[in-house]
Amino acid sequence: MYESMRGMLQKARQEGYAVMAINAFDLESAAGVIHAATEMRSPIIIDLLQDHVKAYFDCDVLTRPIIRMAQEAPVPVAINLDHGSDVAHLKRCLHEGFSSVMIDASGHAFEENVRITRSIVEFAQEFGASVEAEVGSMGLVGTGAGFTEAAMYTNPDVAIEFIQKTGVDALAVSFGSTHGDYPQGYVPTFHFEIVEAIRSATDVPLVLHGGSGSGAENIRRAIACGINKINVGTDYMIAQRDFVAKALQTDPDIEYPELLHRAYLEASKVVQSYIELAGSKGRAW
Ligand code: 13P
Repeated sequence: MYESMRGMLQKARQEGYAVMAINAFDLESAAGVIHAATEMRSPIIIDLLQDHVKAYFDCDVLTRPIIRMAQEAPVPVAINLDHGSDVAHLKRCLHEGFSSVMIDASGHAFEENVRITRSIVEFAQEFGASVEAEVGSMGLVGTGAGFTEAAMYTNPDVAIEFIQKTGVDALAVSFGSTHGDYPQGYVPTFHFEIVEAIRSATDVPLVLHGGSGSGAENIRRAIACGINKINVGTDYMIAQRDFVAKALQTDPDIEYPELLHRAYLEASKVVQSYIELAGSKGRAW
């Protein structure tokens, strides 16, 4: 079933769980995500990162077969452009059939973020697509941007004003997570009060980015405080990479198609464990 994120996330909000949004970049990795959701009878979001889409297959090549897979899946599947910052490219993605887009204008000043996001909300209406946006700034581990600076946290009052002015369907908020792999043994400190303050003032589903390595307890609490979409990319990619490395050690002559097929099946177990944690298991309709 091919769906937009809108209904999916509203249901999650009403029932108190989160839908996992997993980064895929080709047909195999997308198939792995759908496989996990099917096994768990869960709704799922395939997050296609703008920079991956541009670098590997563009939206005109990649989107159609993934939509086809989504349509044929026995569970609800949304396709979301992740961190779309190039407005012209984002509009092409909507023309190619994305059911959801994230417009990431969070690097701009507040009024400009509002203006750009509002224009995308209006444009997406023509396609019946849902729109996610971001206020605050999730860093990237290893870029030197750091991930403990107060400056990167979302200000709840600003987020509430942003939601009112833009009419977005979902909002990514920054409260302590960061994109990428954390140093060994590091567990991020989450500022749950940020999520609670926004959640108590609005019906709009809130999104946790940089879900990889957050730790089970942080994820459970984030959902209890009002997070309804959790983005995970790194942990899924690492699971694929690690499987390939191990399989090549055990059997260096393994057939290449078999290697890739088994890599996504194996890595889909990581997606299943996140689905379990997010509480969306058995929530497919
Ligand atoms: P991770 O790669 O840290 O899980 O973050 C994924 C993400 O937030 C994509 O938007």
